Amino acid sequence: MKVDVLLGLQWGDEGKGKVVDVLTPRYDVVARFQGGPNAGHTLEFEGQKYVLRSIPSGIFQGDKLNIIGNGVVLDPALFKAEAEALEASGHPLKERLHISKKAHLILPTHRVLDAAYEAAKGDAKVGTTGKGIGPTYTDKISRNGLRVGDILHNFEEKYAAAKARHEQILKGLNYEYNLDELEREWMAAIAYLKEFTLIDSEKEINNLLYDDQTILCEGAQGTMLDIDFGSYPFVTSSNTVCAGACTGLGIAPNRIGDVYGIFKAYCTRVGSGPFPTELFDETGDKICELGHEFGSVTGRKRRCGWIDLVALKYAIMINGVTKLIMMKSDVLDTFDTIKACVAYKMNGEEIDFFPYEIDDNVEPVYVELPGWQTDMTAMQSEDEFPEEFNAYLSFLEEQLGVEINIVSVGPDREQTIERYTEE
Ligand code: GDP
Ligand code: IMO
Ligand code: MG
Repeated sequence: MKVDVLLGLQWGDEGKGKVVDVLTPRYDVVARFQGGPNAGHTLEFEGQKYVLRSIPSGIFQGDKLNIIGNGVVLDPALFKAEAEALEASGHPLKERLHISKKAHLILPTHRVLDAAYEAAKGDAKVGTTGKGIGPTYTDKISRNGLRVGDILHNFEEKYAAAKARHEQILKGLNYEYNLDELEREWMAAIAYLKEFTLIDSEKEINNLLYDDQTILCEGAQGTMLDIDFGSYPFVTSSNTVCAGACTGLGIAPNRIGDVYGIFKAYCTRVGSGPFPTELFDETGDKICELGHEFGSVTGRKRRCGWIDLVALKYAIMINGVTKLIMMKSDVLDTFDTIKACVAYKMNGEEIDFFPYEIDDNVEPVYVELPGWQTDMTAMQSEDEFPEEFNAYLSFLEEQLGVEINIVSVGPDREQTIERYTEE
């Protein structure tokens, strides 16, 4: 059986959580393959809103199995808080959530190191989520990390050695911190983590595939935040792209079936770094206000701008996207006109690819389209779409070369419209 991958095509927060939840009934298993509690995936249904950080977004649909793969970095303390909140709200997960023994652990000192490195960077800071993501992946790559499986044997010793190493670095950075409470909470969470089924996820996943089970891989962050292909160094520390599903779960590339690429009808970014179509005017404020563009984890105001087709085409290419999903269309319901960036002007030249060096030297070239000025939030089928909206979809499909199969018109599970395409 094949595996499908769902991932973000912009700078994160495209609405991945909502769509994974919507698509879960079509799969047997949902698996997260990278990132950690820097993610904030929002789901809304039956008048309730949930934000997931480390737990896959398939957890609310029946008894589907959810897996946290080896490519994920896990903070036991944040995981415990998230899991207990879910259990308290009537969603037991111990039976339905398996965790890879090879996933790396975010230690309390990783969080402190994240803050210390950001402070040391001053104005050049990345604007991280402060969850210790970078330092944890750094330890993984430099072969110093602790993994979930380590909690099963001689953990205290391994933890003490890692902590001592981190404290040495922090001393060098002259960074003041107090670990006591963080550490107490974290240690209590280690005991909690042991109550879960800790697995060799690559083996379990491949066994499931041999048994003809279907798997949906859930990406976190977005392609433009990818460590290799994003707007480096203003990126996260993992491979957010489709290939990350292979390394983050142990899935062979030829198993990958559909790649769902998600984007907003406009564009947002949290934290520092280039954002060619960013708006600093009333239009940007209006998108922010109508789209409630505030971080689901940090509460930070998201930077807002028009859709960037140059960056999107690049993301579609890197991921081999087969199906597009457009989110938050309703946010543009009241606009007279809508702009789409089709090229960049750079050093007097027009370019249509995402350049190596990108900062204030890039000026977007826009095409302007008429807005649909219709409330789309209660629409149930594509037959109800206004003419201007259809024209916007056709324009995007023509530019991007991939069909838009799903359109989202509101945050609720039900506000999702599938388009009928000829197979
Ligand atoms: P993720 O990280 O990709 O899962 O996205 P986030 O949850 O961080 O951010 C998406 C936000 O948009 C959440 O608050 C969702 O509830 C909301 N949302 C998702 N789809 C839609 C939509 O079609 N319309 C509107 N208005 N909000 C949406
Ligand atoms: P989801 O999965 C949006 C951004 C941070 C920062 C950079 C590096 O909800 O889409 P990190 O803490 O990962 O070292 O921060 O990446 N970032 C996100 N932005 N959505 C996310 O996740 C993000 N995860 C990290 O703001 O700019
Ligand atoms: Mg998010």
